[in-house]
Parts: sequence; structure tokens; C-alpha cells
Amino acid sequence: MSSNESLANLLKEERRFAPPEELAAAANVTAEAYEQAAADRLEFWAAQADRLTWSTKPTETLDWSNPPFAKWFADGKLNVTYNCVDRHVEAGHGDRVALHFEGEPGDARTITYAQLKDEVSRAANALTELGVTAGDRVAIYLPMIPEAVIAMLACARIGAPHSVVFGGFSADALATRIGDADARVVITADGGYRRGKPSALKPAVDEALTKPGTEGVRSVLVVRRTGQETAWAEGRDVWWHDLVPRQSDQHTPQAFDAEHPLFILYTSGTTGKPKGILHTTGGYLTQASYTHHAVFDLKPETDVFWCTADIGWVTGHSYIVYGPLSNGATQVLYEGTPDSPHQGRWWEIIQKYGVTILYTAPTAIRTYMKWGEDIPAKFDLSSLRLLGSVGEPINPEAWVWYRKHIGADRTPIVDTWWQTETGAMMISPLPGLTTTKPGSAQTPLPGIAATVIDDEGNEVPNGSGGYLVLTEPWPSMLRTIWGDDQRYLDTYWSRFENRYFAGDGAKKDEDGDIWLLGRVDDVMLVSGHNISTTEVESALVSHPKVAEAAVVGASDPTTGQAIAAFVILRGSATEDENLVEELRTHVAKQLGPIAKPKRILPVAELPKTRSGKIMRRLLRDVAENRQLGDVTTLTDSTVMDLIQSKLPAAPSED
Ligand code: WT7
Repeated sequence: MSSNESLANLLKEERRFAPPEELAAAANVTAEAYEQAAADRLEFWAAQADRLTWSTKPTETLDWSNPPFAKWFADGKLNVTYNCVDRHVEAGHGDRVALHFEGEPGDARTITYAQLKDEVSRAANALTELGVTAGDRVAIYLPMIPEAVIAMLACARIGAPHSVVFGGFSADALATRIGDADARVVITADGGYRRGKPSALKPAVDEALTKPGTEGVRSVLVVRRTGQETAWAEGRDVWWHDLVPRQSDQHTPQAFDAEHPLFILYTSGTTGKPKGILHTTGGYLTQASYTHHAVFDLKPETDVFWCTADIGWVTGHSYIVYGPLSNGATQVLYEGTPDSPHQGRWWEIIQKYGVTILYTAPTAIRTYMKWGEDIPAKFDLSSLRLLGSVGEPINPEAWVWYRKHIGADRTPIVDTWWQTETGAMMISPLPGLTTTKPGSAQTPLPGIAATVIDDEGNEVPNGSGGYLVLTEPWPSMLRTIWGDDQRYLDTYWSRFENRYFAGDGAKKDEDGDIWLLGRVDDVMLVSGHNISTTEVESALVSHPKVAEAAVVGASDPTTGQAIAAFVILRGSATEDENLVEELRTHVAKQLGPIAKPKRILPVAELPKTRSGKIMRRLLRDVAENRQLGDVTTLTDSTVMDLIQSKLPAAPSED
């Protein structure tokens, strides 16, 4: 079987979903956008930059004279926070809710745009009092509380690039990031609530600041969230509630160059130290704002938008803070875990706030699938009109489940492909236009140039697979890796000339629609055939008893690599002796005999990074009976013990 046949097999059910008429009739973006962008890409982006309020309008669009170091709108000046907050108040929308904050313990806070302006102004004045000036870096290590959003906007307001570090990261990870960015101030909290309990954050900051490289930190600004006991370094530590509330709520935003740095966000490379992805202001905000408007079809007067990502990931930056707020959206911000205090918490929140647009990750959807559809069924989800997915390929089965059990078989789903590096969405359906195909991100957005190429760099024909590349610069692209231009060149621009290689494998189907196949490092080579882990996982999850699957290629004396699958069963399914055989046959039927897993191991959990990506590297270690590699980025390191305790499982023979 060739992989093309396997794709054809996946597609054979021909599930297609046309946009709902009502949505299509009032959609923010029509087919004209593609035409305009195709006619003149730069003109198209210049027009999107007009969505923003500039203090000096740019006359230049793209400066690509020194590729791959792009400058967008370089002679324009703007203040990002003014665009996300003040201008909505000036336009008479001060009373509109910006954030419906829902704390995990059930406490709630509503913040209007007028209140957000006051809070952000006070925080900007507070940072200034701490000596932060334009260009200084500020590390933010906070739970999902309004102060996280306020802190980011306060930094942007005074031109101090922020580096948000996910609150689940260890002291070591925090120290590396503080050191690499040479931060002056760290903004943190005593703790946050997770799984019904206060969970401390400040001790990790204290420990991080004992490590070499972090000496540049002068102040630690601490939000009191949980009220737990906290060690205190006099002269360095300052309570947010002592410093911020006494500041003036007046602060004049200063305009910065469009290429002024907005933030650094670290993404872990496969090896070596984390890469500080640098984003700047004008181009980034243009694309974050446009894509949020276009892909979510946001109607700021009536929609309630909820992106469930943590603020520590790029999704939180672009689709909680900068995209939605620049568009004047009303949002939900939730602090905690989906199963606290019960497994219906998300659906309860949707019911409570009348959420209309939900943006989440496939891993969350599959978790809810596993818990069973009777849980969302207990809540009124009728306010939802649009669903989004991001973070990894969404397998068709999860897509269909999401639409059926969350979207009442009525809402479109937008599967959005992008990366920390791309800053904003790149490939996605448009909800009022695209007839969607479960499992496919489909089409580059207007103004985006992406394609699939082979080893030699030639574009593959429809129906074939290869490497996903971006062929033209885009406004929200990373500008470099902080402090390491060479690594920027080597990592993204060296594999193919003049093209950005994203690291992902992809296929174009017969219509030219793009299907993401996961990281190219994850492709398996079985008896000379390339088989993508994503496809086998999708086939497994399409079996009614399987909720989640992770597939790896383990080295094998006869076939080169043999397919090993780890599966989580659905709530009601039990592990009987025939199950493994049943699943192997099922995959063979879906994809062909070559894709039949050699071993299948039912497990209770899968090893995931904190952003929900499966750590296949560890599963490969298990499948190859090796000592486990680095487990420090796992959400829960006991998962691997559980998995290993199930071994050795006798490999089934053909
Ligand atoms: C990688 C980027 C984008 C924000 C969150 C992750 C994978 C992301 C999709 C999608 C298939 C996807 C890719 C990509 N990915 N979205 N819709 N379909 N794969 O950001 O941590 O920088 O990860 O996530 O492999 O390269 P990130």
C-alpha cells in the first residue's frame, strides 16, 4: 500500500460539511479575500494593517531585502495595547465585558474594557516605577488569572518585551528562560488553583533566581492569588496589591516602531536549549487580528469567545490576548483543569457565559470523548456557533465527535494549523466559505503561501505527500531566535532554499486540500513504506472502543521499523483478550495490511507535554525496551511507570 492509498482510504467516507447558510450569509470574510490576496498579496496585507490604529501609518509593506530577516510596515508606529484596549473605550465600548474570569474554585470576576484600561495603565505605571523602560525584558510566570493578561498588556504598553513562561514549568526551565532573555523583572503569584488545590508558584521563582544567569533580575512582582505562605526577599519582592492599586489609572501610551519587539516565547527544540522565538508589533498584530476576525468570524457585539489554551503558549498570546482584544471581543478566561471539580466543568462554563465560539486542542477533545458524551449532554451548549481546533492533527473521528456532541451537528469546525514561529494562523478553513473535511486544515488563509514539496524541493502533485513549507514571508512570522540569528537560519531556512520549512509532513488530496501528518521525525518506515503515525492513530481512534492512540515505529530486524500502538479505551470499553486482534484487523481494513500495528498496548494514560503533544520519543524508548530519556517536560511523570508496568506484552504474530 502506498501512503496515497491510505489517504484515499481515510477520505473514502466522503464526510463533507458545507457552511451553515446563516453563517455564510453574514460571514466577516467572503471569497473576495482570496481573490484580492492572490491579485496582490502585499496590497492585501497593507489593507489588513488598516484594521489597526497607527499613530504613524506605514507607507512600506514588506522589506525583504535581507531574507529571511523580514520587516513589515517598518515605517509605521503604533502602540499594541492602545489597539487592544484604549481604542475600544474611546469608541464608546468601555462597558463591554473584555474578560469573564472564572477561577477554578468558582470565584468569578468580570472586567470591562474601561476597567481593563485602568488596570493596565496602573500596571504600566507600576512597571515604570520598578525601573522598567522600553526594550527591557519582563518574565511573566503566572496562573491563568486576569493579572496575566494585564501584565502582558502593561509590558506591551511601555515597549518592554515580555517572556511568558508557562506556570507548569520547573524552576530550572524558568531559570534558563529568564537567563536567556536577561529579564529585569519577574511577575508571578504566590500560587494558582489546580485540581481543586492551591499550587505554589513563587518557590520556583525563588529557586530559579539562585541559578547562574539570572542575576539581572531586580524585582519580583507577586500577585496574591491563593493566600498561601510565601518566602520573601526584602528589597527584591513586591506585592502586586501594594504597588499596582496605588498607581494612577492614567497612562499615555507611547507609539513604537512596527518592528519593536513585542515578546519572546520559548519553544523547546528537539535538542539543546529552548529557542526564544521573537515576535514584533505591527505585522504580528495585523495577522493576529485579521485571522481572529476571519477564522472565528467574530462579531464583537454578540459573540462570547473562549480559547482554552494557557497564556504560556502562543495560542494564549495570539488568541486570548492580542487577536481577540484587538478586535474588541468578550472572552472567557478559565484558571483551572477541565475535570475540577467535575468532568463537566467546561460545558458548565459554556452554559454559564453563553459561549458562542470555542477554540481548543484535539487532546482535550479526545479526553472528553474518553469520559463519554453523556457529560456534555447534561449542559445547554446551544449558544455555540463555531468550534476551533489547534495544536496537532485532529483525527477525523475526534473531529466528528466534536461537531456532533459539542456542536449539535450544526457548528462548523475550523482546524487551524500554525506554530509558535508563525505567530498566527496560516492554514485553516473559513467558516462561512469552506466545505470542511474532518481531519484537514485545508487551505492557506488569504495572503499566506504554503505548499507541499518533495525531498528535492519540487512541489508535489495533488494526491501526494511531502514536506510542508511556507513560500512567502508573512506579517506575523518570527523575526529571529532571540540572540541567535544563525540558529534562526539553520533551523528554518537551510533545508530548502528560500522557503521556510515548518518541520511538518503533509499531503495534498485530490482537491489540493492540505492534510497535516505530524512532525516529519514521526514518520515510520515499515518494509520500505512511509507510514505516518497520524494516519495509524486516526484509524485506531475510528474504532468505537478507542478514545486515544499514540503510534511509534520501533526498530525491527525484519521490517526496519515495526508499528507499536498505545491505546486508551473509551469509558465503557473493557480490555478483553480479543481486543488487540480486533484493533489490528480494524487498522488493516482501514489502511491496508502494511499499516497493521505489530503490537498494541492498552494503557490508562499517554505521556504528553504540558501543551498536550504526545511524547512519542518516550514511547519509542518503551517499545524498544530502552532506558527512558528525559521526562522533565512531561505533565505527569508517573504515566511512564504505569505504561512500563504493563510490559512486557507479547507481540502478536501475523
Ligand atoms: C506544531 C506547532 C499553533 C499553536 C499551538 C502549537 C502542530 C499545530 C496543528 C493543526 C496539525 C498542528 C504542528 C506544528 N500543529 N496545529 N491544526 N494540525 N498539526 O504551537 O507548540 O509551536 O507547535 O503543532 O506539528 O508544527 P507549537
